[in-house]
Amino acid sequence: MDDNSKGFAPALPQKSDGHYKGGMSTTFQLDTSTSRANPTPAPMRRLTIPAIRKRKVDGATAEPVVMLTAYTARQAQLLDAHCDLLLVGDSLGQVIYGLPSSVPVTLDMMVAHGAAVVRGSYHAAVLVDMPFGTYEASPAQAFESAARLLKETGCAGVKLEGGAAMAETVAFLSARGIPVMGHVGLTPQAVNQLGGYGARGRSEAEAEKIVADAVALDRAGAFAIVVEGVVEPIAVAVTRAVSCPTIGIGGSAQCDGQVLVTEDMLGMFERVPRFVKRYAAISEVISAAAADYAAEVRARAFPGPDQTYQPK
Ligand code: KIV
Repeated sequence: MDDNSKGFAPALPQKSDGHYKGGMSTTFQLDTSTSRANPTPAPMRRLTIPAIRKRKVDGATAEPVVMLTAYTARQAQLLDAHCDLLLVGDSLGQVIYGLPSSVPVTLDMMVAHGAAVVRGSYHAAVLVDMPFGTYEASPAQAFESAARLLKETGCAGVKLEGGAAMAETVAFLSARGIPVMGHVGLTPQAVNQLGGYGARGRSEAEAEKIVADAVALDRAGAFAIVVEGVVEPIAVAVTRAVSCPTIGIGGSAQCDGQVLVTEDMLGMFERVPRFVKRYAAISEVISAAAADYAAEVRARAFPGPDQTYQPK
């Protein structure tokens, strides 16, 4: 049985030594005989970026776009069937690596996690964030970084932060076969300039700039735009002003889709930003399980007869 018949990511062109062209990451695919997860469900055609872009017709989106972040293969497996888009966000800097912001995140980190998420998914389109410092200098720098992400992860497109200043880069990438999702409003990579993570668009000038930024990205060819951490009327105004779908996070239910950081919505952290809704309390589940395990180890109650091997 070849990998396609199992519904995994399509095999990439191989060199004569059997390694895939490009970097290391895509040389590995999930193997049902060694994976701890149940086999990936029946083969399905992945959603495409054009299909998602086409959801918004004449300013209206009948079926909202569902997006969540994913950083690991297993997380992708669990989220995939429920999502249209999986975003390998540079929020992994804080969520996975415990970094103070997304600024130190590297392209290597995004490649490793992007490839894992592509391996673990078969239905949602996967996007990978371009980390700070890998795209802002010039369209050519952005192309080099984005091409690496596409080649070495198998992702369908990239996301980058910034408004009108990034329009030329968005047009450059889009014209060269790289779908780009824009990101306006609160742009976390600019935290040093913004001075924090508070909601944007409270002054008239800032509100006008956010709408103008989104319009510039839309005109440049962005297939969708994340609108993060803005006062609700601005999220609505952006959604009305652009032809492509808007994906809200701390925006409005009137955006064309929504995204949350998965660990936030699972209840992994104690600090819950206003725009997050906790759909589970996973940190309590993990703590309780760890406490039970520790108690059983200390009482020599684990491993029990079911978890030990006896001579035949
Ligand atoms: O990095 C990230 O996870 C993001 C989303 C929150 C939109 O950019």
